[in-house]
Amino acid sequence: MYKDLAFNDDDELIDELRDLDYNSDDYSLFDSDYRGLNFGDDFNNEADIILDVPYVPTDEKIVHAMLDLAQVTSQDILYDLGCGDGRIVVAAALERNTHGVGIDMDPMRITEAIEYASHTGVEYLVNFLEGDLLEADFSNATVVTLYLLDLVNVQLRPRLLDELRPGTRIVSHAFDMGDWKADEREACGSINLYKWIVPAKVAGTWQWQTYSGQTYRVELKQKYQNITGKAWIDDQEVQLKSALLKGDLLELTVKKDAQSRPVSFLMRYDAKQKQLLAAEKTLQATPAVKVSQAAKL
Ligand SMILES: C[S@@+](CC[C@H](N)C(=O)[O-])C[C@H]1O[C@@H](n2cnc3c(N)ncnc32)[C@H](O)[C@@H]1O
Repeated sequence: MYKDLAFNDDDELIDELRDLDYNSDDYSLFDSDYRGLNFGDDFNNEADIILDVPYVPTDEKIVHAMLDLAQVTSQDILYDLGCGDGRIVVAAALERNTHGVGIDMDPMRITEAIEYASHTGVEYLVNFLEGDLLEADFSNATVVTLYLLDLVNVQLRPRLLDELRPGTRIVSHAFDMGDWKADEREACGSINLYKWIVPAKVAGTWQWQTYSGQTYRVELKQKYQNITGKAWIDDQEVQLKSALLKGDLLELTVKKDAQSRPVSFLMRYDAKQKQLLAAEKTLQATPAVKVSQAAKL
């Protein structure tokens, strides 16, 4: 019953957009421009709907690659923003028992998605909502999938960073997200898939004690998942050799001087307490507490 779709090796959405003078390589269109693109009657099938992205479904092979890249499990809540006929949400429900929500502005797509979910018997796991993805609430997602344009991704970016919990995975079919570089990139034939892990907000000055009574202090600057900064032990400046952030996990490695061995701390950001808790057996005796904010990079 479900549509038989023919796919090219090259990305279909990019092909569609080439005809509309969209240049995905040089961001030549800015927000105001792409919103004004006329996607034609096939795309904006209702007079009062202005889609930010035309409807082009993701190839089933790519759907599976996206679910694999996001490491989707039955514990996840997956949101597909601009869900089209619901195939990503339905595939996750069917194959991985995942709860999912699809949001699309086009009521025709939502009708198709609901029919598809019912046809495949997963309606108890999924929900399809008509609405604007730029305004919808997706804050309880643990996985977000996107097949939008890079400029729409960039427009969504502040909300993805502010509203999703640290550790939430975002996977995008074919389109990047400006200067927020992906944590992983996978080539699927000629198509790139991108994965980001929402980073905890750890910029600022943090202080903690070790079991031996030393006071560690770090001043961290943050741009997305990239952390730089300075470190002190008992008020003496030392080298912050590395600071690695993955979701809510922060690993800091500090070296006192040329003779000493580097010391690492693995901490987990606790959003409720706004503290960095020791994530494993470590020298860290107290949670790291924030003693001042820091400017962004
Ligand atoms: C390229 S298709 C992707 C469909 C689906 N996610 C997939 O991968 O098969 C983009 C979808 O986004 C929807 N869309 C475009 N602008 C939107 C907006 N502002 N809010 C919600 N949906 C939107 C379109 O109707 C279309 O179904």
